Amino acid sequence: MTADAAFSDFLHFFRSWISNPLRVAAVAPSGDSLARLMTQEIAPVDGPIIELGPGTGVFTRALLARGIAESDLTLIEYGAEFVPGLQRRFPQARVLQMDAAKLGHADLFEGEPVGAVISGLPLLSMSPRKITAILGGAFTYIRPGGAFYQFTYGPRCPVPRPILDRLGLKATHIGHTVRNIPPAAVYRISRRKPLDLTRERPKYGGGAEAGPIPDAGQTGE
Ligand SMILES: C[S@@+](CC[C@H](N)C(=O)[O-])C[C@H]1O[C@@H](n2cnc3c(N)ncnc32)[C@H](O)[C@@H]1O
Repeated sequence: MTADAAFSDFLHFFRSWISNPLRVAAVAPSGDSLARLMTQEIAPVDGPIIELGPGTGVFTRALLARGIAESDLTLIEYGAEFVPGLQRRFPQARVLQMDAAKLGHADLFEGEPVGAVISGLPLLSMSPRKITAILGGAFTYIRPGGAFYQFTYGPRCPVPRPILDRLGLKATHIGHTVRNIPPAAVYRISRRKPLDLTRERPKYGGGAEAGPIPDAGQTGE
């Protein structure tokens, strides 16, 4: 990207922030260092991929640089001011002007084909209900082993623990960069392994059938 294009993106982004500081939540697009951190674990085999809140497309470009096919990208951006620029820059991607909280009802894919969701959303300025809708919706498309990547300017994962617990998810810190304004950290959010509640049937002598294993939800009283 040329210096002129980067400056024009900055002005565009800054104006958007002035008109809607809570939704845009940053004065400038993310830097290349954060974009590399956000995309470091994503490979072409992870397609299709959903990006939430792409803005001017910094993370989108980083995904393409990692070899992901543009046609494998679905970009979900609520800000109407960013949508024409995304459509122009990434003509083979699917660009949808949509609230990411509506993901779960959007029928974007059949089944769970998505290998990664990458999110630039300002979760710190969203309500717990909205965060739950976004993550819950995203995981209806994410295949087993896939992950949701989120950055934050805060000191901990921006998804509160009770929401992770409720959705059966875990968050892992995968990197931090001071070469961003402001410095930022990246988390991988993935499904917890289901508890293995099976256990060997006790063997009783005489070849008699063992009794049923009590239901895991019961106390055994
Ligand atoms: C902090 S900016 C990040 C932009 C870009 N990913 C970057 O890192 O430079 C947040 C982006 O999320 C978008 N956004 C905010 N709320 C949204 C929502 N509910 N659904 C979809 N996009 C949203 C904003 O319009 C903005 O483009």
